[in-house]
Amino acid sequence: MTLRGANVAGSPPAIEPVLLISPDGMLGRAWQTLLRDRGVVHESVAFPSFDLRDPACVQQAVESRFRTVINCAAYTDVDAAETHEAEAMAINAEGVGRLAERCKQTGALLLHYSTDYVFAGDASVPYRCEEPRRPANAYGRSKARGEELLLGSGCAHLLVRTSWLYAAWGKNFVDTIARACQERPILRVVNDQRGRPTSAVYLAERSIALMQQQARGIYHLTDGAECSWFEFAEEIVRAVHGRARVEPCTSAEFPRPARRPAYSVLDLSKSEALIGASRAWQDNLHDVLGARSAHA
Ligand SMILES: NC(=O)c1ccc[n+]([C@@H]2O[C@H](COP(=O)([O-])OP(=O)(O)OC[C@H]3O[C@@H](n4cnc5c(N)ncnc54)[C@H](OP(=O)(O)O)[C@@H]3O)[C@@H](O)[C@H]2O)c1
Repeated sequence: MTLRGANVAGSPPAIEPVLLISPDGMLGRAWQTLLRDRGVVHESVAFPSFDLRDPACVQQAVESRFRTVINCAAYTDVDAAETHEAEAMAINAEGVGRLAERCKQTGALLLHYSTDYVFAGDASVPYRCEEPRRPANAYGRSKARGEELLLGSGCAHLLVRTSWLYAAWGKNFVDTIARACQERPILRVVNDQRGRPTSAVYLAERSIALMQQQARGIYHLTDGAECSWFEFAEEIVRAVHGRARVEPCTSAEFPRPARRPAYSVLDLSKSEALIGASRAWQDNLHDVLGARSAHA
């Protein structure tokens, strides 16, 4: 399956060529590989030669020939955002708004990623796509504002919220635990925050599936099932035959600059109705760990 579509009456609109923004990040790298493997005509632009904060840069890079723009760029340091909120806003909010305005001008579809952190995390049932935004930290506020600006621009969009991203590359929880469990006898991991892990490769594949269904609007995409960080860590250690014992602890024992949501499970029913059930995180995790050892 490819992203191709003929631009003739009655058939899906063409979605090539694609402009991929930030092919070097965790998700960007998954997208770069997927576009290449599926033979999708695309080009990419990366920071610092491309900067979402620079209006001229955005204007120039998003040429009118691109039918789809995939934005994997973001300010993602959740704790640093507490003391650098203006910087996070400049990229995650104003930069995204600028990109959306440009896509509105050129008529391109904008695929943009957002986060479970746009919600407060005090719910007890999964967050639906249409739930009001109520972020609990600076990063969440910047991403929520980006969503508002994108939606307000009137551009054709697919706004995908995801959570707990991991991959065989980049700095992420899976890599941290897989390394630490070979070096330390005991790992203490919080057991009072629940969410849904998401493989970056799987996220890109599911995003393509949504595009093939011509989905527009807000969707949630993550791996299937849910867990706490402690349960996630236990599975990682088991899978890599780590030496460490994993012990549960509370968030209060490990205070961080940014408040973390206790319950940030995204409701997947809207995306699953269109593209089928989500694959369990345990299965995606095993694929990612396999790819990780192949890279090592
Ligand atoms: N990671 C998670 O757990 C998670 C969870 C939920 C949602 N998300 C969302 O998923 C998306 C992808 O996240 P990710 O983890 O793949 O991010 P990432 O690995 O941190 O990659 C972000 C990319 O954005 C680039 N960038 C930074 N500032 C920029 C600017 N001013 N202009 C253009 N590019 C800039 C970075 O370049 P440099 O590396 O050179 O700075 C990097 O390549 C983001 O929208 C994020 O908010 C992530």
